[in-house]
Amino acid sequence: MTGLSLTNVKKSYGETQVLHGIDLDIDQGEFIVFVGPSGCGKSTLLRMIAGLEDITSGELRIEEARVNELPAAMRGIAMVFQTYALYPHMTVYDNMAFAMRIAKESKDAIHERVMEAARMLQLEPYLDRLPKALSGGQRQRVAIGRAIVRQPKVFLFDEPLSNLDAALRVQTRIEIANLKEELTETTMIYVTHDQVEAMTLADRIVVLSAGRIEQVGTPLELYTDPANVFVAQFIGSPAMNISKARMEKTGETSIVTAESGHNIEVPVRSNESLAGAELQLGIRPEDFLVAEEADALVSGQVLFVESLGEVTLLHINVQGHDDAVVAKLPGILDYHKGETIHLTASPEKIHLFNADGISLKHL
Ligand SMILES: Nc1ncnc2c1ncn2[C@@H]1O[C@H](COP(=O)(O)OP(=O)(O)OP(=O)(O)O)[C@@H](O)[C@H]1O
Ligand SMILES: [Mg+2]
Repeated sequence: MTGLSLTNVKKSYGETQVLHGIDLDIDQGEFIVFVGPSGCGKSTLLRMIAGLEDITSGELRIEEARVNELPAAMRGIAMVFQTYALYPHMTVYDNMAFAMRIAKESKDAIHERVMEAARMLQLEPYLDRLPKALSGGQRQRVAIGRAIVRQPKVFLFDEPLSNLDAALRVQTRIEIANLKEELTETTMIYVTHDQVEAMTLADRIVVLSAGRIEQVGTPLELYTDPANVFVAQFIGSPAMNISKARMEKTGETSIVTAESGHNIEVPVRSNESLAGAELQLGIRPEDFLVAEEADALVSGQVLFVESLGEVTLLHINVQGHDDAVVAKLPGILDYHKGETIHLTASPEKIHLFNADGISLKHL
């Protein structure tokens, strides 16, 4: 069943349009993650779904019913923000019980739901504490618990973990992953800047840029088959390397000439209209292989070496590239600044985009 659908949803503040027609269907129970550069409209979209911002045009449906005009409180949505505004003078238990008390629910019903939320979020030891006696991660879990108690149909999270330190983020991310397993009927939309959160939590990721959807897909679809250069470079870290190439021969597979002058046959179908065309060739840092000069797709001088133990990152100065090409090679490697290195990649790991940055697989 469709949990939530957006049809040609636009948002303008006065003359400035910030969302340019968003179309998206989300299944009930799905965990959707919005990612995109700062200012692309993620929070605005979330706030429109929550009912905290007007929808300039287009339609928002929750479980098939149009809700554009429905006040926030009646949409069955709960939202958790980056900053957790807990009531400072109330215990954890009372913070979580508050909304149900206002709604005049019975004491037993309140107790049952608060205890259930506390169990899910492992907050049982802290129920009698005030927020000031909790860590940031625990406070954020109380904010989530407070939302769970309301049994929303749709759960919205706007960068809920971004105020936490690295270790707490990992721990709280696991709590959220567990929550997703338990609340199978609840649709969740989660905004983050964190690649790992996006890749590990999402059923599907929505990549936004400047108020438009660039691509929607499972984390691995976006990683293995990005629709365009923007998505290719946004998903994955360090970002995919892009260089110029030319189409040598079109057909069921494509033969392309790399910057190095070396030809490679890539298993991507190409249309005759692309014969001789300028292309963009993408290789992820982790897909590079060290090669002989004669086979190299990329050659250059090592600018600097980052040894991380499990992998070595090589930043390479390649003629014609403003930015360094980055290779992520397994293990501890003995490269030095100034040394020449030649790299290639397996044909099936090579991504081809046309001059406008559209993947040949998506043309
Ligand atoms: N009340 C407002 N009036 C005018 N412009 C606004 C208003 N709120 C947001 N904007 C603009 O809308 C655009 C989208 O903002 P939004 O907060 O949705 O971005 P975001 O993707 O959440 O960014 P971040 O990752 O930094 O949180 C921005 O250019 C912002 O300046
Ligand atoms: Mg935001």
